[in-house]
Amino acid sequence: MEIFPQQASSYATHVDALYGFLIAVTAFFSILIGTLVVYFAIKYRRRSPDEIATEIHESTVLEITWTVIPLGLVLIMFFWGASVFFRLSRPPAGAVDIYVTGKQWMWKIQHPDGHREMNELHVPIGQTVRLTMASEDVIHSFFIPAFRMKRDIVPGRISIAWFEATKAGRYHLFCAEYCGTRHSGMIGWIYAMTPSDYQAWLAGGTPGESLAAAGAKRFVEHACNTCHGDVPGARGPSLAGLFGKQVHLADGRTIVADESYIRESIVNPQAKLVSGYPPIMPTFQGLISEEGILQLVAYVKSLSSAPPAGAAASAALPAAREERKTVRP
Ligand code: CUA
Repeated sequence: MEIFPQQASSYATHVDALYGFLIAVTAFFSILIGTLVVYFAIKYRRRSPDEIATEIHESTVLEITWTVIPLGLVLIMFFWGASVFFRLSRPPAGAVDIYVTGKQWMWKIQHPDGHREMNELHVPIGQTVRLTMASEDVIHSFFIPAFRMKRDIVPGRISIAWFEATKAGRYHLFCAEYCGTRHSGMIGWIYAMTPSDYQAWLAGGTPGESLAAAGAKRFVEHACNTCHGDVPGARGPSLAGLFGKQVHLADGRTIVADESYIRESIVNPQAKLVSGYPPIMPTFQGLISEEGILQLVAYVKSLSSAPPAGAAASAALPAAREERKTVRP
């Protein structure tokens, strides 16, 4: 039985090295302290009932030593841990976007070209994959032990994570947050495939409409286009080219339009009002599922002019653009 799952992502070795260091330091001091407790208890035990202890004065050198060494060790842990944390929380450019919705008790996964999967995710190796995740109900946690990747998915917000699979194979996917009766059944498989196998898999399936095209339909369905149409004097700001740009808000702040901002602007439009526009947009909270919100987010992203780098991503996007043209009013 293996103690550690195999290392199958680009950052697995970094996580394991840090974890190994923590275990080594903990083991060293546990054994040292445990041994000394027993050794001193025997060595300095009371040998006769009337034995009186001798007074010992402090040693400055000893006290400085046992302060400075642990301080140095925990600072190493802090800076090392922070660097691994930043590596894990910043998706590199050129990633393929995959959209994940967690609900009791299943994982719904949407690829940009419209492929949908249930409790399974097929990815090519050597390609960074960026996960945009939302929950329909309670907190879930997307956990792939072999990739050392775990991210909580909290209802009401969008969680972003990324990984790059390095070894072809089939890996466990778990929900790592207790989410109700069938939490233990909320599991699945990640299939990391060679690029040629992945292309074969893509060709074998029948992609539905792309995520952005589905989002474009919802955009019309919910009449978003009546205010966010790209015409002069429109009641709402234009969404073309919005994603990733800086937005000036009515209260003077400037924020970057990311997935979370778009989601918030759908469910709580008054939270971050764009400068120059009246607070007239109604909330769509409860009217659109999280899956639908992810589709709208994908649609707004597709309106951005800058095409994402990365072969797979750019291969998937032209299709989305084509479909969008036909759906948009
Ligand atoms: Cu979902 Cu536990």
